[in-house]
Amino acid sequence: MAGAKAVRGGDHTAGHVRVMRQEEEIMTEQEVRDICRLAVRMRERAYTPYSHFRVGAALLGVSGRVYTGCNIENASYPVSVCAERTALFKAVSEGEREFQALAIAGGPERGALQYCAPCGVCRQAFQEFCPPHFPIYLAKSETDFRRYELQELLPEAFGGGNLREN
Ligand code: THU
Repeated sequence: MAGAKAVRGGDHTAGHVRVMRQEEEIMTEQEVRDICRLAVRMRERAYTPYSHFRVGAALLGVSGRVYTGCNIENASYPVSVCAERTALFKAVSEGEREFQALAIAGGPERGALQYCAPCGVCRQAFQEFCPPHFPIYLAKSETDFRRYELQELLPEAFGGGNLREN
């Protein structure tokens, strides 16, 4: 992640984290902590008999509702789904299409948590619904996390605009 803006503990100013959408939004430090904590907790639900790598995710919608997810593996390996897409698809299927932030927590079943970055497929899935400045927190705990923006993780993204002529 050379050159990526990674801020240990988040870029907090006066108890708030500035989150850019079309218009500016403010997300509280408590909301960031909450989704990081939920992501860590969601690892308990992961179904990972093959990789033994557990991932949890928590996605905050603009409505204020949080959608959680875990990775769910399958004996036919490619059928498996990541924690992030579980959360995203839950949200969209419930009618939520705009989001404030995503938290991810991942690591081996019997090892320490990592700053677990989303896979390429998940980055693309989020790019469909989220703006370039969308914040993604890679969490080890509710106080130990790194903040990235979607545009850092998926530069030069392919999107709906590419499908239009001119
Ligand atoms: N995985 C996720 O759920 N999210 C990530 O960000 C990285 C990988 C899952 C997929 C698979 O179940 C396991 O972790 C090992 O790749």
